[in-house]
Amino acid sequence: MLSYSATGVSLYVAYLEPFLVKSLRRVLDQIRDDELRENVDRFCRQEAQHYMQHERFNEAILQCGYPGLRERFGRLKADFDSYLESRGDKWCVGFVEGFEAYTTQSALRALTSGAFEHPRTDPQFGALFKWHMTEEIEHRNVAFDIYQHLYGDWPFRAKMCWVAQTHIWRFILDCMKIMSPVDVARFDDSYRVTAAHRALAVCAVAPMFMKTYTPWYDPHRYQVPDSISQISAELTAAAESAS
Ligand SMILES: [Fe+2]
Ligand SMILES: [Fe+2]
Repeated sequence: MLSYSATGVSLYVAYLEPFLVKSLRRVLDQIRDDELRENVDRFCRQEAQHYMQHERFNEAILQCGYPGLRERFGRLKADFDSYLESRGDKWCVGFVEGFEAYTTQSALRALTSGAFEHPRTDPQFGALFKWHMTEEIEHRNVAFDIYQHLYGDWPFRAKMCWVAQTHIWRFILDCMKIMSPVDVARFDDSYRVTAAHRALAVCAVAPMFMKTYTPWYDPHRYQVPDSISQISAELTAAAESAS
């Protein structure tokens, strides 16, 4: 079930992250704080790198022949295209913040769980997620800061957290429903994801959602464990030596 969730996230970010970048770039001129504008620009550059790195993995998954997966993926793209076309800046920035408020928490949980180094995790898949999730933690305050700077409207932020978080989880649950039966038939019963498994997955993420709806939610308060700061330092050193 964990692999289907991660695969769902990988497919999701292929269309979500370009949406994040476009949504924030179109309000860049409204930012009256130089440091925040610089942080938003850095955020956009990181997110643009993320989705490009997921594309090869996503194509390999789509080539595996899961009936209906490509169509569901296409509907996801249509959602984001319609948001950019028909929704206002506040709605789009609110969606970005709703998504980031969730990913920060799931990144902290995933990185401290050791799941990306588990012997049954494909090393390349684990490395991709480890890098991506570390950068999510690095830029955890940016979407919140821009939303607060431009709008600061708490009830609307809470609503957009709900909209963004249920949007990604509807997609992840659909991926599980589409992929699991195919893998059970193709491999074995260990790939079975039942309705009870899906309900458990939702129960596991619901507290993370709820935390973001409160008026006192603030990502600046997170304490990043030393182990994650260490991963971040290692990845930065590796990137510097490669450049
Ligand atoms: Fe990302
Ligand atoms: Fe992000």
